[in-house]
Amino acid sequence: TTNWTLPDHPTLPKGKTVAVVVLDGWGEASPDQYNCIHVAQTPVMDSLKNGAPEKWRLVKAHGTAVGLPSDDDMGNSEVGHNALGAGRIFAQGAKLVDAALASGKIWEDEGFNYIKESFDKGTLHLIGLLSDGGVHSRLDQVQLIVKGASERGAKRIRLHILTDGRDVLDGSSVGFVETIENDLAQLREQGVDARIASGGGRMYVTMDRYENDWSVVKRGWDAQVLGEAPHKFQNALEAVKTLRAEPKANDQYLPPFVIVDESGKSVGPIVDGDAVVTFNFRADRMVMLAKALEFPDFDKFDRVRVPKIKYAGMLQYDGELKLPSKYLVSPPLIERTSGEYLVKNGVRTFACSETVKFGHVTFFWNGNRSGYFDETREEYVEIPSDSGITFNEQPKMKALEIAERTRDAILSGKFDQVRINLPNGDMVGHTGDIEATVVACKAADEAVKMVLDAVEQVGGIYLVTADHGNAEDMVKRNKAGQPMLDKSGSIQILTSHTLQPVPVAIGGPGLHPGVRFRSDIQTPGLANVAATVMNLHGFQAPADYETTLIEVVDK
Ligand code: 3PG
Ligand code: CO
Repeated sequence: TTNWTLPDHPTLPKGKTVAVVVLDGWGEASPDQYNCIHVAQTPVMDSLKNGAPEKWRLVKAHGTAVGLPSDDDMGNSEVGHNALGAGRIFAQGAKLVDAALASGKIWEDEGFNYIKESFDKGTLHLIGLLSDGGVHSRLDQVQLIVKGASERGAKRIRLHILTDGRDVLDGSSVGFVETIENDLAQLREQGVDARIASGGGRMYVTMDRYENDWSVVKRGWDAQVLGEAPHKFQNALEAVKTLRAEPKANDQYLPPFVIVDESGKSVGPIVDGDAVVTFNFRADRMVMLAKALEFPDFDKFDRVRVPKIKYAGMLQYDGELKLPSKYLVSPPLIERTSGEYLVKNGVRTFACSETVKFGHVTFFWNGNRSGYFDETREEYVEIPSDSGITFNEQPKMKALEIAERTRDAILSGKFDQVRINLPNGDMVGHTGDIEATVVACKAADEAVKMVLDAVEQVGGIYLVTADHGNAEDMVKRNKAGQPMLDKSGSIQILTSHTLQPVPVAIGGPGLHPGVRFRSDIQTPGLANVAATVMNLHGFQAPADYETTLIEVVDK
């Protein structure tokens, strides 16, 4: 059993209000015209950076520092917030699936054996993001699952693909479809009836998150389960190419389509007796579909027909809800997070973001766990996000509203920690709209100001950081760092996250004057932040946490 009592910090006092601010998608990169944080007016973040050097530093937010397979993997919000909240580095979904495939354990475990029971009479459906972005899923893993399942008896396989263009370049969907179509063609030669059955863009079909807009999931359900969509094609490559050419269409927002046979009948609706695997390893954008597939009393939209299927997730997406109940690979077990420790040590906690990032500062922060640890000491506030728009249309998003609620929480005196996520740099950065991203960065900076002003008023402490880079670099670069051009000579917009480090800044009137960043930790990462925050609350971190970033010198 866990001893939840945290030892007192030898010098730092308790009882200060600590504001933990996470700027989503806010990395540090050299200043140029594609660095929206540099271009934007961000006086508050600038002043932190240009202030006392012992109060501002960079930490790693990508690759192995956050539990990803390699340092070529960009950071993302899931692994970033996991590391920030848990204070330790856990092997993450991408890596766990790689390992299970490499060892072959994936085929022996309960999840695969469960869906395998359907292979005799039913079809195996694979639903997920077709991309090598490595954030939600990876194409090479999908290829191995298709191959492995066919070798183990799947005779009829249907893929329901979601196109990316968000974690990878827009337009790359075409190449991914070609790759998987090649594999499927080879399987057909071997007598396996394997094809793509439906598709659509990830932001318009299926992959909504935190229940922002159920119509997105419904669109997917109609195509994948019912075999109905406004666009019908006989070939997926043609579908993607044709639909991409429509006005305003891109990989992220491709309208839903189904593949039909010569008679116009959809080739792969999901029916009784089939097996379904959702192959994303990341949870946030699969939870809603998993609920629709698995919850008997589901009522968020009319499912019309609910097939009796054997369903497994690539991972279990929510440990608390046990959703889905069957899965191919066990998720990282992230326990004893800093949030749970602090609450159990009396730290009254307020967490807030708008819908699209709400689960980041709650669910991901708390080790992929939904709900409160202790209702009497916690309040989580979700500001409703705009839905049905792309965020370059409203780049300020709800930053002001988040800041106002947080300011009020600080001034109320009811909380010892306020923890927030400001989504602008990331959500607008993902649209690839540079001008809008500049507006977004400014809005985030203004929100930081409001929070820091409140911290000032109550004599508190702040720690401002980010979960990964995005807005600081909006262009794809060659090895020499120069912007890359496409065939038509325009720059290649980078909608994805980056490999850049992120800032950590501390300060506020409540900060002990002797606190400064240590100079003896060479390459700290996001996981070092949790112990730091515990110190700011007057506690020492558990021994197995990554070490704190701060020390206290006599002053
Ligand atoms: C998304 O899900 O929007 C992107 O794939 C990753 O963005 P996030 O990690 O910042 O949520
Ligand atoms: Co992002």
